[in-house]
Amino acid sequence: MAIAKEIKLDLDSDLELPPAFADRNQLEQVLTNLVVNALNYTPRGGSVVVTTGRGQMNGNTAVWCRVSDDGPGVDPIDLPHLFDRFYRGQAALESGEPGTGLGLAICKEIIERHNGKLDVSSQPGQGAAFTVWLPADKSTLIQQAEEDKDSQAEPAPASD
Ligand SMILES: Nc1ncnc2c1ncn2[C@@H]1O[C@H](COP(=O)(O)OP(=O)(O)OP(=O)(O)O)[C@@H](O)[C@H]1O
Ligand SMILES: [Mg+2]
Repeated sequence: MAIAKEIKLDLDSDLELPPAFADRNQLEQVLTNLVVNALNYTPRGGSVVVTTGRGQMNGNTAVWCRVSDDGPGVDPIDLPHLFDRFYRGQAALESGEPGTGLGLAICKEIIERHNGKLDVSSQPGQGAAFTVWLPADKSTLIQQAEEDKDSQAEPAPASD
């Protein structure tokens, strides 16, 4: 799809992320929806990039995955309705791409069921960025912190 539209599709992921529990198929569905939207609504010759990282959500460690494009962005009139079922916005009308307006509503529902959040930021004319946030697995974080503490407490190996 990206090749057919001559869109540059890049992945720039942080490989040192803590794990997050999620249903693999559902998460794949969400990310596919976001990437397909970006490819659909970004004009020929544009670029789409997927980045990942870690941050804070409600005071807890979370991981995020962001799909950004340099397409038309989201019209301010559309912003409050973007995640409504069957809502299709300006970018969809302009692109002429067929669709039902259900994709983002489903994505939001899936992510909220995982105690995460899906947000959008966009400057009209300067592209859109959709970010999926998922809470990092607490037990892994505690285990990691303890391992780090233990490794610091270890005496230096004797040298002879
Ligand atoms: N990357 C994007 N850039 C600009 N507008 C976007 C982007 N992604 C989504 N939108 C806007 O949000 C609207 C809702 O997106 P959503 O994915 O829910 O539906 P859709 O793509 O129109 O149809 P489908 O149900 O086939 O996904 C789109 O119609 C479009 O106006
Ligand atoms: Mg869609």
